[in-house]
Amino acid sequence: MTRLLTMDAPDERNRLDAMAQGVIGKPLDRPDGPAKTTGTAKYAAEYNIPGCVEGVLVTAAISKGRVASIDDSSVMSMPGVIAVIADERMTARSAQGGAGKSPVRQIDRVEYWGQPVALVVAESFEQARDAAKHLRIEYQADEDAIVDQHDADAPVEPYGDPVVQGDLGHVMKQAAFAVDVTYTTECHNSAPMEPHASIAEWDGDKLTVHTSLQMIKYNVKEMADALGLSTEKVRLLSPYVGGGFGSKLGVSVEGAAAAVAAIKLKRPVRVVLLRQQVFQCVMRRSETTQRLRLAADKDGRLIGFGHEAKVSNLPDEDFAEPVTQASEFLYPGKNRTLRVDLARIHLVTAGSVRAPGEAVGMQCLESAMDELANQIGIDPVELRLRNIPERHPSKDIPYSSRKLAECLRDGAKRFGWSADRKPAQLRDGEWWIGTGMATACRVHNLNEAQARVTLRADGTAEVASDMTDIGTGTYAVLSQIAGEMLGLDIKDVSVKLGDSNFPPGAGSGGSWGAPSTGSAVFVACEAIRAELAKRLGCTETELTLRDGFATAGNRRVALTDVLSGDHFEEVGHFKAGKITDAFSAAMYGAFFAEVGVNAYTGEVRVRRFQGTFGFGRPLNAKTATSQCMGGMVWGIGSALTEDLVFDKRNGHIVNPDLAEYHLPVNLDVPKLDVVLLDERDPAASPLQAKGVGELGICGAAGAICNAIYHASGVRVRSYPITPDKVLAELPEP
Ligand code: MOS
Repeated sequence: MTRLLTMDAPDERNRLDAMAQGVIGKPLDRPDGPAKTTGTAKYAAEYNIPGCVEGVLVTAAISKGRVASIDDSSVMSMPGVIAVIADERMTARSAQGGAGKSPVRQIDRVEYWGQPVALVVAESFEQARDAAKHLRIEYQADEDAIVDQHDADAPVEPYGDPVVQGDLGHVMKQAAFAVDVTYTTECHNSAPMEPHASIAEWDGDKLTVHTSLQMIKYNVKEMADALGLSTEKVRLLSPYVGGGFGSKLGVSVEGAAAAVAAIKLKRPVRVVLLRQQVFQCVMRRSETTQRLRLAADKDGRLIGFGHEAKVSNLPDEDFAEPVTQASEFLYPGKNRTLRVDLARIHLVTAGSVRAPGEAVGMQCLESAMDELANQIGIDPVELRLRNIPERHPSKDIPYSSRKLAECLRDGAKRFGWSADRKPAQLRDGEWWIGTGMATACRVHNLNEAQARVTLRADGTAEVASDMTDIGTGTYAVLSQIAGEMLGLDIKDVSVKLGDSNFPPGAGSGGSWGAPSTGSAVFVACEAIRAELAKRLGCTETELTLRDGFATAGNRRVALTDVLSGDHFEEVGHFKAGKITDAFSAAMYGAFFAEVGVNAYTGEVRVRRFQGTFGFGRPLNAKTATSQCMGGMVWGIGSALTEDLVFDKRNGHIVNPDLAEYHLPVNLDVPKLDVVLLDERDPAASPLQAKGVGELGICGAAGAICNAIYHASGVRVRSYPITPDKVLAELPEP
């Protein structure tokens, strides 16, 4: 049976708090942990399939134009080479997952440097890679390729509907305090540890692909579309995913290439992207230019708010980095201008990377807020506290549960925040020392989801959904929801994920995975509880389930006895209905950082980093804390090192690997202090939970930027804040 719950109004029942098992929210270990740490969890490329051959992609060496010819004879006589495949079906670009448009392109058109143009298949990976290097390709390059969004000739169009209220220009002139600053951020790569990988094989007339993707229900459709198959003929398997961070939202280039090769060769084909190809041909986060205009009255209350961004993407892509997403509701200001302009350039697809929108939008906004606080001469924490709007400033709707003020106050106290903001006052040897803070904010998204829950006759349960666990803790969290609802220890709940044969979950994206798929599990469990209650002659709410026993009134019966050989299977189907438009729902937090700025070299070291977060009910305190830590690590990278560098002549990436694209490593990261506030948000989901996956990055870099200013008096408005930029402005050591 399928039970549908459409959420149109807040769910004030807070059912999970009424349950008896006591596993929800607990910092339990991941059930998938042992398999991952002992190497028995199989990732996409790790299946040994008899007869499997290896494909390596060949990528374009021009930024725009066409492939004039591919000379197969240049490699066909090389050892082990089986085929050179250039087929339009394999030109699937990394779709955005759910974009709903067929990712098929014309094979001979090249739109960016690094675009896949052919696949070389050989008996071994080494042979395929060698042959891929030797494949002779002739190009006809267009002369007019623009690869830089700052190029004056780059076409620019508005993206979406700008928000224009009142007269921002006017209040900027009249206000007691006004900041008008422009910040920039560079392109980023998602940089998942596991490169994109697929093994495609035929099983009768069905294609099975072992792959590494975030959003299976959409990916099945994308793959079927790319190949011209019906969705029933395609099965995708992604039980373990070694990180995605947006780059695996849509089917990526290697999956379609492996599938096309498997069709043509009638053999299983494995294609694993080289690390350089993960950078070159999957996707990037757009670079951004952000003008921030903040106008405040004499008390520091915002009366004008402007956030205008320019981002880029390929000419025919739908996505634009939603830079102003949190700016729409975080701060007040009747006079508002929010807009995103999109430059059309020939660089690898711009897509969702680790909290699209807020990650880069908040870090610039929060630095501008620091500049405003300094101009006014008030504590930046106080500035934020004075600017928490009563209602959504444009839509005039209420906020759902919002613990921003608590995060700011509790975080400041825990960190030992000092309101004395005079810069360049404190030295520790050759290091200038300073502190900075920023607000964290990320919209709460929900996505339709289904999950099947089976309560077996032996009193154990199974949860199944095509939902993925991309390192986020889905296995743990779903087992806890089912365990709590059905009164089972989580070792008696098995969770099966990442198989397109299972009911369609929410997928992992936009931080919606746990609240959405978790709600589907919750709905299925409520249905099973109702069945159990019926057998016990009580109502579902009168039923207490704990440790494998059902209690109703004065009777306590083992679940196995209630079931007496039967099992219950229910599919929970969760949809966000009117609730989405009725409330402004978001996750909030506050970051506090202490940095050292080297007085001689401009090097920045983060010495302390604290984050306090409120995101509704934490479903698992350990995995949620880890998510926040991961976000803060990304924040350090975004603040100080991450910079995808393109050759301005042709868009070739010059640092396409983890040696040259600098993600923070252990030595860059101090001990992170994460605090989760206990919160319930009845408008967020039936679990009273929101998402947490991306919250820890949203604003984090701003706290570091602000701390650099406080330490040294240097305000760098171009991220990443590398030593050269700091050094140029440093005071005499
Ligand atoms: Mo996320 S960047 O929506 O996977």
